[in-house]
Amino acid sequence: MDTSEIIGQSIALENVFRILAKVAPTDTTVLVTGESGTGKELLVRALHKNSPRASKPFVPINCGAIPKELLESELFGHEKGAFTHAIRSRAGRFELADGGTVFLDEIGEMDFSLQVKILRFLQEKEFERIGGSRPHKVDVRVIAATNRDLEKEVDKGNFREDLYYRLNVIPIVLPPLRTRGDDVFLLADYFLKKFCDKCMIKNLKISSKARELMRTYSWPGNVRELENFMERMAILCENQEIMPEDLPDKILSAGGVEQDKMPVMPARFEWPRLRDMDDRKMNLKDFLDKIEEQLLLEALHSAGGIKNQAAEILGIKRTTLIEKLKKKQLG
Ligand SMILES: Nc1ncnc2c1ncn2[C@@H]1O[C@H](COP(=O)(O)OP(=O)(O)OP(=O)(O)O)[C@@H](O)[C@H]1O
Ligand SMILES: [Mg+2]
Repeated sequence: MDTSEIIGQSIALENVFRILAKVAPTDTTVLVTGESGTGKELLVRALHKNSPRASKPFVPINCGAIPKELLESELFGHEKGAFTHAIRSRAGRFELADGGTVFLDEIGEMDFSLQVKILRFLQEKEFERIGGSRPHKVDVRVIAATNRDLEKEVDKGNFREDLYYRLNVIPIVLPPLRTRGDDVFLLADYFLKKFCDKCMIKNLKISSKARELMRTYSWPGNVRELENFMERMAILCENQEIMPEDLPDKILSAGGVEQDKMPVMPARFEWPRLRDMDDRKMNLKDFLDKIEEQLLLEALHSAGGIKNQAAEILGIKRTTLIEKLKKKQLG
């Protein structure tokens, strides 16, 4: 198995690799799901590369990007005269992929009526070109991907249940980046090196404070967001190290106070106890500093990164806030 292009060692990703190793050698249909930017396409390409079909065509098609009226002809081809602009016969992507893999990307966007035809192909391994009467038989493995929750789409009546089950023989779920722990750093270092090499920039590093904040941020755009961010840093960062002040407000203000990561507050407020400090193996100064840091970041977060407002929330002067942030290297 060669998965060297897919960076990550988290347990969440190891599980994906394990399934990948099992399904790659087979002809089974696979449905890859995961939030936008989690690496679905990268994974599907790896699946093809590690399969016995590797030397045969890999034919991707983005079902969401091609107008509905054209998608069927793109997939299955058409005969001359099948519709107004069909001046000559044309093979579709299933024919072009014979012996290889067809990747139906964004399958959740596919029209109901075309879904029936895909189902028929999966069951009978044959199809007809538009306007044609002769069935075509091809040997194609189908892999589909979507960032939608197809089960929900089935419930809503937007996606055929029978096709869903047929596609979902082997589901692979790509975990969001925020659940991959230290993979954030592996990926960040990998992308940073890639972009620095490309632009012949000195070897930029990431400071530990910045790392901490990057780890806490929720990365809604997942690996793609991190990749783009590292590219920006490689070009814009003027220091030897990426410091918290180089980070955009959204990452900065997420520092430990991301809404969905907020610790559940006890029903009744209680002042911290000695054992809270002890549990964390901190001394008084570090403990108080940490509490202050949390409150500063929370205020910044509530204020959408606007320091004036954050200072007002905290009841301190703007200059005091800036001083504190600087001292804590929070930018
Ligand atoms: N584990 C990874 N290691 C290295 N690069 C990755 C990894 N995961 C994703 N990438 C990179 O991140 C970018 C986004 O990945 P990809 O296009 O595969 O995501 P996707 O899940 O298909 O997103 P979308 O749902 O928006 O189509 C690509 O440039 C890809 O190479
Ligand atoms: Mg994609």
